[in-house]
Amino acid sequence: MRKFLTAIIVLAIIGLVVFWFVTMPKTIGAEALAAGYTPDLKNGQEMFNAGGCAGCHTTAGQKERLKLGGGMALKSPFGTFYAPNISPDKQNGIGNWSELDFVNAVQRGVGADGQHLYPALPYTSYQRMHVKDVRDMFAYIKTLPAEATPDKAHEIGFPFNVRRLLGGWKFLYMDNKEYAADPAHDAEWNRGGYLVEGPGHCAECHSPRDPMGGIVTASRFAGGKNMDGPGWIPNITPHADGIKWSKDDMTNFLETGQTPEFDSAGGSMAEVIENMSRLTADDRKAMAAYLVTLPPRPGKKPAVAAKK
Ligand code: HEC
Ligand code: HEC
Repeated sequence: MRKFLTAIIVLAIIGLVVFWFVTMPKTIGAEALAAGYTPDLKNGQEMFNAGGCAGCHTTAGQKERLKLGGGMALKSPFGTFYAPNISPDKQNGIGNWSELDFVNAVQRGVGADGQHLYPALPYTSYQRMHVKDVRDMFAYIKTLPAEATPDKAHEIGFPFNVRRLLGGWKFLYMDNKEYAADPAHDAEWNRGGYLVEGPGHCAECHSPRDPMGGIVTASRFAGGKNMDGPGWIPNITPHADGIKWSKDDMTNFLETGQTPEFDSAGGSMAEVIENMSRLTADDRKAMAAYLVTLPPRPGKKPAVAAKK
């Protein structure tokens, strides 16, 4: 009996130690910020637009897309999140943040206080970005107006409100890897792959999720239930269930929101197009080059829309 108890206690301690390490916030070190860096504001703006930061970090219904006071509500099966203020305001925004704080929030989902951030901020995609691009984005955001709006507390219940547990989620769904160029493809395709998989975070909406909220890898881009509201987000792979568009069709769509069937992008895609239309024509063409070669995957819109 004694032996048995000792074994249980030892196992519990091992379990706690494993839990401690697995859930510990993992950050990027200062050595990742190369010395002799000068910010490229134009590139920072391109990354800001590709990343769709304004889509979440403004106030609902607000016209000026560069006032990043936050407040937008994002619904999810786990509760409602409110995007915080990321304007350069020192008190309520990120005006006092260091470059490294910012890089870690965007690419590792760790806030300036060292706690895990929720993946409502799509860092599973942003982890693919080059650190240099994130630094440029930070420099660009610093040029935007400071907004005094205070952050709104998320409405999420136990156990999801325990941030430490997000370490377990990240252990399952994050690999902390930058986008790896595929040498079998040319530079344009790889630029597109970078923009789609990294800042563009297209898969975050266009994929089904498992019950824990992670993207189902085998069905990436094959469409899925809208997390933030009613409806279904379409399959964008070149499959009979998805879209078989030419590269020109896709390039045009990213600029104008017009599909080859003369529909126009609605719902949350309208905001994405708003951002895409601001990118350089070359970047849109590169994204299209990549998107039309996505692996074709089945994924039909269900006949009866999934219930919330
Ligand atoms: C889909 C919505 C969404 C998008 C897109 C998004 N964010 Fe966020 N962001 C959030 C939410 C929600 C949080 C709060 C997370 C939390 O509290 O754990 C957040 C948190 C942050 C934080 C931490 C702020 C703080 O006070 O702790 C930073 C910095 C940030 N986002 C920057 C960005 C940047 C830069 C982009 C664009 C590249 C971006 N976000 C795109 C939703 C989004
Ligand atoms: C915030 C969620 C969200 C994100 C992020 C998003 N989309 Fe969409 N997308 C949608 C929704 C919703 C629709 C359906 C729009 C409609 O029905 O009018 C859509 C439609 C589309 C369509 C048209 C599909 C069809 O069948 O007509 C394409 C192509 C597309 N998105 C590509 C992209 C690309 C490329 C990205 C990344 C740059 C992206 N989307 C990011 C939500 C999103």
